[in-house]
Amino acid sequence: MADKYYFCTLMKNVSPTPLQRIAAPVSNELQSYRALFERTLHHSEPLLDEALSYIRQREGKMMRPILVLLMALEAGGVNNKALTAAVALELLHTASLVHDDVVDESTLRRGLASVNQKFGNKIAVLVGDYLLSLLLCKAAETGDNMMVERLAHLGGTLSEGEITQLDSSRHEVPDEAAYFRIIDHKTAALFATCGELGALAAGAKSEKVERARLYGEMVGICFQIRDDIFDFYEDKHIGKPTGNDLLEGKFTLPIIYALQAAPSPALLPIITRVKACQASPEDVATLVAFTKNHGGIAYAKDVMNQYREKAIKVVESFHNKAVRESLIAYANYVAAREM
Ligand code: IPE
Ligand code: IPE
Ligand code: MG
Ligand code: MG
Ligand code: MG
Repeated sequence: MADKYYFCTLMKNVSPTPLQRIAAPVSNELQSYRALFERTLHHSEPLLDEALSYIRQREGKMMRPILVLLMALEAGGVNNKALTAAVALELLHTASLVHDDVVDESTLRRGLASVNQKFGNKIAVLVGDYLLSLLLCKAAETGDNMMVERLAHLGGTLSEGEITQLDSSRHEVPDEAAYFRIIDHKTAALFATCGELGALAAGAKSEKVERARLYGEMVGICFQIRDDIFDFYEDKHIGKPTGNDLLEGKFTLPIIYALQAAPSPALLPIITRVKACQASPEDVATLVAFTKNHGGIAYAKDVMNQYREKAIKVVESFHNKAVRESLIAYANYVAAREM
């Protein structure tokens, strides 16, 4: 699996990937961002440095920094504040992945052993904390109290989303409203703040900041629904495990819909085991087949596309043609992506 992922990453250098095309209007600024981000991930403490250099090896898709930079460009231009905000937001994202893999007991991330798998839970928790402290330093570097406040608030929102998710399926299967609250907090809030801070950094007026934020939120909801659909399929090039959500007691949109569309008392014992995080691989296979047979995936794709369209509507009036086209392509990519 790791080799396959690595091969895909190498292939990106041969011809431009969809994401490279999307990032084209800010390609130089993205290089500056990348250098800045990598420079933060070093430490004189040997074990901490080893873990940070391990994280540096695989940079991820950089969806969040790309969004910050595109919004800054639309609002007037990418400046140092936008670059610093992009680094801060990717640090928060990285910390949230390191902690999320501990919580989800996940062993693979970006095609490599997850930090918890490689270094153990104790180190993973502490490295995640260290990344959060770096985020605070970057927030302070912006010299902008509003940005510091937004980033601090965002950290709380992401944690709240993750904890609500853990809490939600302990008693009953969450309904759609509960699902949307969770993904809005744990995922969409981060994309929303990327849009917002990109626009703020470039000095946009409040109406433009609000649009940038709304686009991020819509695209973020779309992003998490796509991620949750991944989990119903065999591992391909995703670089992280699939089939994990039900094993971890997580009910996501496809199955929430299927259970509600075709209530099935025969599934109750399995659902009870999922809630207790005691489902077997056979239980998961039964629920996955049930979800697919009762239109759960088709429904989730339909809802995801509604959010994709909402996101596109928000940016249709953007002035910078290249940015506008990139943001439309970005929303389409989020809904169609295979990684
Ligand atoms: C993964 O995000 C976490 C979710 C919100 C599902 P990404 O898929 O953007 O992670 P990387 O940074 O590209 O690895
Ligand atoms: C999103 O949820 C993760 C965060 C918000 C950190 P998941 O648990 O589904 O993310 P993956 O699938 O592990 O990337
Ligand atoms: Mg996870
Ligand atoms: Mg999770
Ligand atoms: Mg997931």
